[in-house]
Amino acid sequence: MKPFTYTTIYLILLISPIGGIDFWKTILNFFRKRCDDRTSFNYKGLDAELKNKVFGQHLASAVVLRAVSVFMHDKNPPKPLVLSFHGGSGTGKNHIAKIIAQNLFSKGEHSKQVHWFIGDYHFNTGTNIEACKVQLQQWIRGNVSACPHSMFIFDEMDKMNPELIDSIRPSLDHYDNIDGVSYRHAIFLFIGNAGASAINQVTLNFWKEGEIREEIQLSSQDLENEISKEVFNNKKSGLWHSSLINKNVVDFFVPFLPLEFRHVRLCALEEMRALALPPKQKIAEQAAREMPYFPREERVFSVKGCKGSEPE
Ligand SMILES: *[C@@H]1O[C@H](CO)[C@@H](O)[C@H](O)[C@H]1NC(C)=O
Repeated sequence: MKPFTYTTIYLILLISPIGGIDFWKTILNFFRKRCDDRTSFNYKGLDAELKNKVFGQHLASAVVLRAVSVFMHDKNPPKPLVLSFHGGSGTGKNHIAKIIAQNLFSKGEHSKQVHWFIGDYHFNTGTNIEACKVQLQQWIRGNVSACPHSMFIFDEMDKMNPELIDSIRPSLDHYDNIDGVSYRHAIFLFIGNAGASAINQVTLNFWKEGEIREEIQLSSQDLENEISKEVFNNKKSGLWHSSLINKNVVDFFVPFLPLEFRHVRLCALEEMRALALPPKQKIAEQAAREMPYFPREERVFSVKGCKGSEPE
């Protein structure tokens, strides 16, 4: 659509008295419905940030870069992009979600097209699950019909009622449209701790065998299957007990590996840089040394990942 010119505005002013209040309402709605933000996928930006600002997650970074760029370059994707992030706390799941948003929308994570739902905070289903379901469906529908490239992030999946997640399944699947709304350009991210013990075990096995961590693949020791099994069998893991897995609506299970001392140190340095402080190696090292590590004997992986590694 061509940008509005003064002539257009003049014309609107000229004819406005004819339509009266209804006319202005229509104009107002027209502007409200438009996406407030520019969707412009920045492949180079995404690639660079995943390389420079994410530490120890070669697997997640590669899967995300590939999945998002293939999806964004597809003019006619058969279904929305659905990614599920798994791993312990502080391993960078939310961090990567924000990086995706930053490279999709000019206003990044603060774009009105990014919707961040937190497990039990947004949907305290104790009160009325049916009302929550209807609300969530309406939100997704309303936002996608206004802006097809909307992004929905479900954080702390482990605390979310599976019934609630089940209720949005149709919007994640291969449908041309549902009641006239197409969800095929939307992105859904699920974030949770489920699957972390399988991921940690595989990473520890690699470490014990003296193998290079960066060589861990989705197929290593059946990693992807182990995650989905753990996630599926865990009755507490929110969505996973739902029918999402059976229906294959999740495009990728993305594992976040437990972080080692060297990664925590890099996080601390990056944090200083982000705060515009001069990066000090010694302080970063000390911050990393003060973190707790597991397993108890070997003490290889940071219990809280990079969380809390920020220098005071
Ligand atoms: C879009 O989602 C937000 C929640 O993130 C909700 O408050 C809003 O009402 C939704 N918009 C529409 C048009 O449904």
